[in-house]
Amino acid sequence: MSVNQGLEDVIVAETKLSKVDGLAGKLTIFGYSLEELAPNASYEETLFLLWHDKLPNSSELAEFNKDMRSLRNLNDVAKYTLKEAANKRIHPMDALRLTSTTLVLDDPNPLDNSYSTNIARVRKMTACFPTIIANYWRLKEGKDYIEPRDDLDHAENFLYMLTGKEPTKESARGLEIYLNTVADHGLNASTFTARVIASTDSDINSALTGAIGALKGPKHGGAPGPALDMIFEIEKVENTEPYIRKKLENRELIMGFGHRVYKVRDPRAEVLSKAAENLFVGDKREFFDMVKEVERIIVRLFEEYNPGRNIQTNVEFYTALLLHGCELKPDIFSSIFAMGRVAGWGAHVLEQMQNNRIMRPKSLYKGEFDKTWVPIEDRD
Ligand code: COA
Repeated sequence: MSVNQGLEDVIVAETKLSKVDGLAGKLTIFGYSLEELAPNASYEETLFLLWHDKLPNSSELAEFNKDMRSLRNLNDVAKYTLKEAANKRIHPMDALRLTSTTLVLDDPNPLDNSYSTNIARVRKMTACFPTIIANYWRLKEGKDYIEPRDDLDHAENFLYMLTGKEPTKESARGLEIYLNTVADHGLNASTFTARVIASTDSDINSALTGAIGALKGPKHGGAPGPALDMIFEIEKVENTEPYIRKKLENRELIMGFGHRVYKVRDPRAEVLSKAAENLFVGDKREFFDMVKEVERIIVRLFEEYNPGRNIQTNVEFYTALLLHGCELKPDIFSSIFAMGRVAGWGAHVLEQMQNNRIMRPKSLYKGEFDKTWVPIEDRD
């Protein structure tokens, strides 16, 4: 019996949500190519598409927006949790996970497991993620808690809560394209986690907070912060080669490069690069050009050190650039990834619940058999 340690190529679910074609570098989200969907849709339209199997018409979208905006406020326990978390200065993803669990207190039908109630739970958690993330950031920075506004879009309202000021149209749209781009991506580690939890007939809150835990790791959603730190450490194009050679010779990971599935450039990198370009205008353009050149050198060095492995730029490298262009700080990047990916987590959990079989893989036992019990006083 062979062991498939990273579960590559193991198919455990049928889905109509997204397809990742790693050889062609193509991402399809509910029938739309990423390049078609991300620059055109509002994030609210993407949410509706994933949860309701179609793009909304104008009246459906207006009603959906109204509902989502009405769900943004946090309960008192959530607010208290955020304050305590900020006092202890815990990781922003831990603050998101911890505070999200308190949203079960808002559930009007805790024992109802119907599909419509589960969609309402997914909506509530998605609507509250920006309020939690922005306010955790504010409290950690010594600022006051700020209430969400119901006259702004999802992305606009998030940026408003972070800074206390209405964002520019360019920043809000840049963030929205980012949220669309990361909304769903096949059976990645966090989405798989959510589906495993849902497969036990557990609940929406458990599945989505479990997914936050999986996304936190630097091999998944934790990469863009360090990717931006790396760009700042490199500072100038001419420093790239010695900096990266040293890292590769020490067998250190270069954040923002490599992917389990993509063996060509991650299509999300291109969409985000184009969106980022709109944010780096005037005297900021030099930084954008520098980053593009750094990317080219890194890909070349990967080919030299790992010939034929096709280690290419992934989504996180341009996430770092785009979110920096929106004037966001690296500490918060993983949480913003969660704010986008919750769309897909929710959709996958709902899909799993509709056609469920508990996930129960096997492990290969490598231990011993038939040992004899040794009383504690006779042990070495
Ligand atoms: N930096 C340095 N080496 C890397 C690398 C990176 N970013 N990405 C891959 N490699 C190395 C691997 O360590 C492996 O070397 P080994 O065979 O000597 O152990 C080899 O290249 C091939 O790796 P591969 O099988 O293609 O990737 P994977 O499936 O094992 O790992 C990631 C995929 C995403 C976990 C990995 O590329 C990574 O950690 N990247 C950096 C973190 C990141 O950007 N994550 C966000 C992903 S969207």
